[in-house]
Amino acid sequence: MPQGIAEELIDEIRQRTDLITLVGDYLKLERRGKNLVGLCPFHHEKTPSFTVSPDKQLYHCFGCGASGNAFTLIMELEKMTFPEAARFLAQRAQVKIPERREAPTAKERLQEKVYNINQVAARYYAYCLKSTTAGKQAYNYLRKRGINDETIDLFMLGFAPAGWTGFYDFALKKGAAPELMLKAGLINPGRHKGYYDRFRNRVIFPIFNASGKVAGFGGRTMATGEKEGPKYLNSPQSPVFDKSAILYGLNLARDEIRRSKKVVVMEGYTDVIAAHQAGLKNAVASLGTALTEEQCRLLRYQADTVVTAYDSDSAGEAATWRGLAILQATGCLVQIAEMPEGSDPDSFIRQFGAAAYIKLIEEASPIIEYRLGQLKKRYDLTTDQGRVGYTKEIMPLLISAANRVEQDYYLKRAAEEIGVDENALRSELKRRRKDKNRLPEEQAEQDSAVNLITINPAEKILLSLMLQSKEIADRGRKLIESDYYSDPRVENIFREIWNLYAAEEVFTAEKLINRLSDPQVVRIITAAATDPALQDLEPRTAKRMAEDSFSKLKRAWIERRQLELQRKIRELTAAGQLDQIDDLLRESQHLISGNENNPGRSGEGGDLSG
Ligand code: UTP
Ligand code: MN
Repeated sequence: MPQGIAEELIDEIRQRTDLITLVGDYLKLERRGKNLVGLCPFHHEKTPSFTVSPDKQLYHCFGCGASGNAFTLIMELEKMTFPEAARFLAQRAQVKIPERREAPTAKERLQEKVYNINQVAARYYAYCLKSTTAGKQAYNYLRKRGINDETIDLFMLGFAPAGWTGFYDFALKKGAAPELMLKAGLINPGRHKGYYDRFRNRVIFPIFNASGKVAGFGGRTMATGEKEGPKYLNSPQSPVFDKSAILYGLNLARDEIRRSKKVVVMEGYTDVIAAHQAGLKNAVASLGTALTEEQCRLLRYQADTVVTAYDSDSAGEAATWRGLAILQATGCLVQIAEMPEGSDPDSFIRQFGAAAYIKLIEEASPIIEYRLGQLKKRYDLTTDQGRVGYTKEIMPLLISAANRVEQDYYLKRAAEEIGVDENALRSELKRRRKDKNRLPEEQAEQDSAVNLITINPAEKILLSLMLQSKEIADRGRKLIESDYYSDPRVENIFREIWNLYAAEEVFTAEKLINRLSDPQVVRIITAAATDPALQDLEPRTAKRMAEDSFSKLKRAWIERRQLELQRKIRELTAAGQLDQIDDLLRESQHLISGNENNPGRSGEGGDLSG
């Protein structure tokens, strides 16, 4: 349920918001038949596939799959939560929402305090860099690395002196509580008593969150000896700092990312700083780790293109591929900028200049292209073994292609590389796609990466028909058993439909969407509710299609159950436990006869198509 805003108000906002006018604020729409179409705001395209239905008050993009209603549109375009979007639309539609003026929670109060002490620390470090003798060496170091004064100020760079309690003493004098400094990760408890500074003799890189507050710090050691700890030391996890959910530089890069619809993801602090200074202002860093799902979430919908500019060795990490797969699944074009062995963006810019670097980013290759190149290097394609290994690895890549045209293009290229007929490769691809169970690891990896819901065609048809006819929905409730669904989330959708019918005779897909927040679920519902082949059917046709789909669902379940029974019977036979297989054989027999007799028309309720 939408937090804080009464359901009646949400209903009123919905009734007073026209999706066509709303979308019209963002893009140009043209009429096509019953619908309007325009260029999709969620992915880059040249021909319009973003479709808005005035009747249904839903949008759906046939290019990238983005879909939903007025609320989800605003959530995605304006980066808002549901309550924020509701308020936004309320204001537009002149619906009054009573202001929520609740006291901040204990957690929010603590976060505010941590941001404040972090701000105090950032100022202290910046002061030390510029105005103390100890800071002089660090300042010279930065200048020698080519970072100018303006950039130092922009990124609020600083220096933590080598003494043990420089910051601690300073903050204490300012009246800060040691517990708070501890919570912020700025000091550590001493072994016997007292506290000491976490960051000592380090150049300090304040890490800002997307809205520009200091969330944490990175510190690069100025010492040369090994016992001085890691090269870079970061803030620990704190109430406001989670390394895996923050992108360094995003606060400064945001405008340029939105303007250019492109973001360049790098590894380190100094890379982002050098890129900014070189005029590449849409650069962010994932702070040495692989790109995480949370970080990808910060980027999606802001950029159409994500270019990764990682050091050549770390670009191959599996975790990074998973992150990139998420971006791809949301319709982003993912590219890899290849750098010479051993250089990072910072060193490249210093060595070859800004223009050469910007060119390198512009020439980044699509992810598939890059990976095919990598695999080609890894396998010896003159041997059978090499070709088999290569073929196995390119399959998931080809499957991940953005569309059929792209898939075909790379399939042809791969076929040429291995010297096989492209049709052979194509049928192998088809086989792999269908025979998903044969590749459990790959399938699991793909599924967890994008968490895709697999809805089968029968479910899709029923979803659409049940939304249009209470009669069909009632029939579905009688006939569809819990085991029949291909995914528990599909079952959830169906249950929600029945819940809504329990309350009212007619309702829209749009209303259903507001009750289910998972974007994947929203996508499925919108796709079903806007599929032209499934709308405004003759009642007789609709009923026939529904009956057919019920049968199919049941038959699919019987097939799955049969396979399972056979497997169990085989296992028990092999283990010599013959006494236990009788029941299984009986069930199997029963399934076969039931299925042959009258698939899907399993008794209860009258057949609608009769
Ligand atoms: P690098 O070792 O590539 O450092 O780590 P760098 O950015 O090129 O730094 P310079 O040029 O040597 O000064 C890349 C990023 O990985 C994280 C930091 O965010 C760093 O910027 N890192 C690295 C750590 O968090 N800890 C470390 O010990 C090393
Ligand atoms: Mn470097």
